[in-house]
Amino acid sequence: MAQTGGIKERWIQPGVFLANNAISLIGVGLTTASALILIGFWVIDVFGRGGSHNPYVGIIVDLCLPALFVLGLILIPLGILLRRRKLRVAGQLPTEYPKIELRNPVFREALIFVVVATFLNFVIVGTASYRSVAYMDTPNFCGQACHVMAPEFAAYQVYPHSHVACTECHIASGIPGFIAAKLNGTKQLIDLVLDTYPRPIMQAGKVPAASTTCVHCHNPGRFVGDKLVVTTAYGDDENNPATKSLVLLHVGGKDMAGHLSGIHGAHMGRIEYIATDNTNQTIPWVAKVNDDGSTTEFVSSDAKQPVNGAKRVMDCIDCHNRAAHSFDTPEKSLNKAMLRGLVDPSLPFAHKEGLALIKAEYASQAEADSKIVSGFQDFYRTQHADVWNQKQSQIERSAKALSAIYDVNVFPNMKLTWGTHPNNLDHNDYPGCFRCHDGNHNTKDGSKSINNDCSVCHNLLATDEANPKQLADLGLQ
Ligand code: HEC
Ligand code: HEC
Ligand code: HEC
Ligand code: HEC
Ligand code: HEC
Repeated sequence: MAQTGGIKERWIQPGVFLANNAISLIGVGLTTASALILIGFWVIDVFGRGGSHNPYVGIIVDLCLPALFVLGLILIPLGILLRRRKLRVAGQLPTEYPKIELRNPVFREALIFVVVATFLNFVIVGTASYRSVAYMDTPNFCGQACHVMAPEFAAYQVYPHSHVACTECHIASGIPGFIAAKLNGTKQLIDLVLDTYPRPIMQAGKVPAASTTCVHCHNPGRFVGDKLVVTTAYGDDENNPATKSLVLLHVGGKDMAGHLSGIHGAHMGRIEYIATDNTNQTIPWVAKVNDDGSTTEFVSSDAKQPVNGAKRVMDCIDCHNRAAHSFDTPEKSLNKAMLRGLVDPSLPFAHKEGLALIKAEYASQAEADSKIVSGFQDFYRTQHADVWNQKQSQIERSAKALSAIYDVNVFPNMKLTWGTHPNNLDHNDYPGCFRCHDGNHNTKDGSKSINNDCSVCHNLLATDEANPKQLADLGLQ
């Protein structure tokens, strides 16, 4: 009897015979196809450039495909057991199982079925996974599929990196960055499902070092030299008086002779600091590596001694922390909108009324939109009926622009409001440069402090002047 044969007769021949049923064959197809696709992803991950570094791709590669693989593995024995029971009940269980050979038509048909099923599964599952991975790499996925990213997506679209994928800045290059991102992505998905994600989401200190992101596109040594920054501000009077400030920033860089100068040149890889809060706003300890290799330490006179904490080498992100997502102050965003005419500066008190409306507190963006629009229109309807009659369409357009300003800066559902995310490229609205350059960070012997001379960073050519002479000289007015 068959029971006395070797492994081939006792296991393989009965297995193949009994597996010749739809359930098992589909199982074989699923398992082989998902295994092939998985191997493909792994090969790309390990050897390939162009593999996806998106942490959420883990959903497919680490969850969906393995699940299909296991499902296939379960279907195979399930089909075998069902067929065996059916044959036994019918008394049709063979005493000797047929040999495995292509001459046997039953075996041949089963083999063809498996090959076709594998091929079809491969095409369908493979295309679906490939397309999902490609989709997950787009800013649309990071920014829109996940509503908690709405604030960053909104602020990102109006900034110079609106064509740069989120993953370029949020995932360090190389294998460690890839693994860190996968772990982090999985944690975020769990937080999202359990609704335990933080509101607002803060990232300071968690974004990978600029050396693995920004410098892929930016040359850190590029010589910028002096840069003229012109800003326009409007006042609260009836005619919204406009004034201009002209600042000549000494950005510097590395010149042709390799000499470092200015704001960029002063910090490049030479400054270390310790921050004691999670947004890097309080910096009690700073050290500078001098040209001769020695270091100079500066400690804030407000610091509680001794200062403990992780040291961080200052890089691009310590100044350009809002390069992709600038949440403006209400004053700055309104000034910009008025300069572009989106909020019409010819409407009396547009600045004063507009600012009060966007700064007010609302429970949701929907409430803000309706109250800002109706509030602005009512102001003119009730207090400046003549203006309302003449300029109703400008008033309506300006009201919409005001609510749009609110919608890209304030997200009540994420507890993100004006000022939640400080901008470090500054010292007027946020501590920014003055986290260190406050004149209060001194060496131990008190002989030196971090420079806070206004002219070391910029020449203030004009501050809040109605008609700065320099602009006229440059032919810009
Ligand atoms: C040019 C680089 C860059 C790109 C592109 C970028 N980010 Fe960021 N992102 C940053 C930096 C730098 C921070 C840290 C801000 C800080 O430390 O204050 C940040 C912070 C964040 C935060 C934390 C909250 C906050 O605003 O500080 C989230 C969430 C975020 N980014 C999501 C995204 C999403 C989603 C995209 C794509 C739509 C994206 N980022 C694209 C550089 C970038
Ligand atoms: C994938 C390439 C890429 C990466 C990564 C990238 N940038 Fe940029 N960045 C650009 C390009 C391109 C521009 C110029 C945009 C333009 O002028 O339209 C730019 C512009 C800028 C500007 C000038 C903005 C302005 O207002 O003129 C700053 C500052 C900047 N990037 C900083 C950063 C920082 C900081 C990081 C890392 C967190 C970073 N970039 C990462 C491509 C990149
Ligand atoms: C100490 C602060 C600081 C650091 C560190 C820093 N920057 Fe800047 N950067 C500035 C300031 C200030 C400006 C001028 C601000 C403006 O354009 O309004 C500037 C301007 C720029 C510009 C615009 C130049 C132009 O031609 O308009 C780019 C691009 C830029 N930085 C990239 C970088 C990159 C990349 C790094 C890291 C390698 C970096 N910065 C590090 C402060 C810094
Ligand atoms: C983490 C601390 C820190 C921050 C933040 C910081 N700096 Fe500095 N900066 C230093 C240190 C330390 C030095 C070297 C000591 C010195 O020369 O006074 C320095 C030097 C400089 C110098 C050269 C000064 C000189 O005497 O030649 C300039 C210019 C400068 N920083 C501009 C800026 C600007 C602009 C910002 C904000 C966008 C900024 N720094 C933010 C720590 C910092
Ligand atoms: C460590 C560098 C640094 C020092 C020191 C410094 N500033 Fe600035 N300041 C900046 C930077 C960077 C900006 C540009 C911010 C921007 O691009 O909007 C700026 C912008 C300004 C502006 C323009 C604001 C606007 O309307 O755009 C004024 C005014 C100003 N600084 C005043 C001063 C005065 C007064 C001092 C001396 C007490 C001083 N700053 C010292 C770095 C510095």
